[in-house]
Amino acid sequence: MSQSNQELMARRKQAVPRGPFNTAPFFAARARGARVTDVEGRDLIDFAAGIGVMATGHNHPKIVEAAKRQMDDFVHTCFHVVPYEGYVRLAEELNARTPGTHEKKTMFANSGAEAVENAVKVARAYTNRPGILCFDNAFHGRTLLAMTLTSKISPYKHGFGPFAPEVTRVPYAYCYRCPFGACGPESCSLECAENLKQAFINEVDPTSVAAIIAEPVQGEGGFVVAPPAFLKRVQEIGAEHGILFIADEVQSGFGRTGHLFACEASHVVPDLMTMAKALASGFPLSAVTGRADLMDTPQVGGLGGTYAGNPVCIAAALATLEVLDEERLVERARETGKVVKARFDAMAQKYDLIGDVRGLGLMMAMELVTDRKSKAPATAETAKVAALALEKGLLLVKAGTYSNVIRLLPPLTIGPEDLAEGLDILEEAIAAVAGDL
Ligand SMILES: Cc1ncc(COP(=O)(O)O)c(C=O)c1O
Repeated sequence: MSQSNQELMARRKQAVPRGPFNTAPFFAARARGARVTDVEGRDLIDFAAGIGVMATGHNHPKIVEAAKRQMDDFVHTCFHVVPYEGYVRLAEELNARTPGTHEKKTMFANSGAEAVENAVKVARAYTNRPGILCFDNAFHGRTLLAMTLTSKISPYKHGFGPFAPEVTRVPYAYCYRCPFGACGPESCSLECAENLKQAFINEVDPTSVAAIIAEPVQGEGGFVVAPPAFLKRVQEIGAEHGILFIADEVQSGFGRTGHLFACEASHVVPDLMTMAKALASGFPLSAVTGRADLMDTPQVGGLGGTYAGNPVCIAAALATLEVLDEERLVERARETGKVVKARFDAMAQKYDLIGDVRGLGLMMAMELVTDRKSKAPATAETAKVAALALEKGLLLVKAGTYSNVIRLLPPLTIGPEDLAEGLDILEEAIAAVAGDL
């Protein structure tokens, strides 16, 4: 008989520091599809999917089987010692599937942060420039450079300086809170993109900038969807100065947005792209895909890592791509996203607590405010909604600079019953909290 959640939490507190946070106060025993069961047998609907990782659903049999088969053959040789075909095959797949028909190459790493670090290394090696431009509200990971590129001070940066040099931050196209006050519902002058020119006068010499890194849909920042023209304009302005464009698709990639990659929605072909999360359905794997001439700049031995591109993770990723195709997950994200959007819009009609409904595909969110006019972030209320939902059996994750965004990242495979049940619970939680306002 396993220990209770309470007993396990007491042990966790004793043995593990508080830094690695927990959303749920219970421990997982089993997970299948869009449901997680805890050690006491309680079954929850999962709208978090391990932060968007389990896009194919928990323990998809085909993916588990592929990983097991690889483990029977070999678990690890280190690609730098003895290479294996799967690494090359997955690189070929990503070269073919990422935007752009130009020649590309792909390398693998273990986490999203590592992919970001490697993309920056490649960009610096190619341009021979040190600078990186990033955006407000961005999240790129927790390693030194990735943390520096990340924008939210607490909890991600507080106490962890000094930070990496040569990083400049500029406003993102956060239309609901337009940093230039220029956005109306139907109008956008794209001042946020044109502002780059100003940054090149006031903040940083463009001839010292290697790359601009952007999330096509900001993830941890609260599912902020840039208008399609924004990314294109940013890329153009950068290109005028020989600056590369890195699309960070760690959270938005692999069908989540109803496109295989979110930058397809903006018709942007990045020079370099970072991927992780849903790539290998829970096995730790990340990738950098980019123009072949860029990717080949770093010297032999300049890129890599002991576990980077582990064969079991690679096998899981190859199976994940097959599942994406066979189960039409990109289209399903678009279809299910429409159902969620309609439900969110209907909730926004009823509850003033919901200030904004936004997203792309099945990367949908609602931003909660205590007052629609001032848009004052409803941070405490958002925490209450998430806690109430959890009590009622729905696992949710928050996001946003002010932690006032409820974001939905269910498996793309979620069925209509689980989806409807989860949305009902979310609405009950919102209604309860909105009633308290
Ligand atoms: C856009 C983006 N980039 C990078 C990362 C960092 O990924 P990891 O936590 O795997 O290092 C994340 C994680 O949430 C992310 O959303």
